[in-house]
Amino acid sequence: MHAADGTWVRVCTIDDIPLLGSRVLECAGGDNIALFRPAAARVFALADRCPHKGGPLSQGIVSGDTVTCPLHGWNIQLDSGQACAPDVGCARKYPVQLRDGDVWLALSLAAAGDGVAAAEVAA
Ligand code: FES
Repeated sequence: MHAADGTWVRVCTIDDIPLLGSRVLECAGGDNIALFRPAAARVFALADRCPHKGGPLSQGIVSGDTVTCPLHGWNIQLDSGQACAPDVGCARKYPVQLRDGDVWLALSLAAAGDGVAAAEVAA
């Protein structure tokens, strides 16, 4: 991983994330981050923690721009982290960009120091 532009961190390439799937960034001292790829050149980043009871969103099913939590079936919007009605809640979202096929994530300085520096990209 390479830090650049202050808090932007390159985490992987888009092809490291399976299409209609996800990849988890394991972060020391905080929630893991799930990167979702709902289309060939689209990526979203949410905390890997369902706002209902903490289920691993990265293990859910991606359909359109939502992911269905594997525990109780809540649908979470990938662009906002908001649960779809009638459920109410929000998973933390992270700014993410695609640059020339690379995925960049914006994190707070604290998270960048504690999390991403120690983060391990897992399949
Ligand atoms: S923990 Fe995700 S729907 Fe219950």
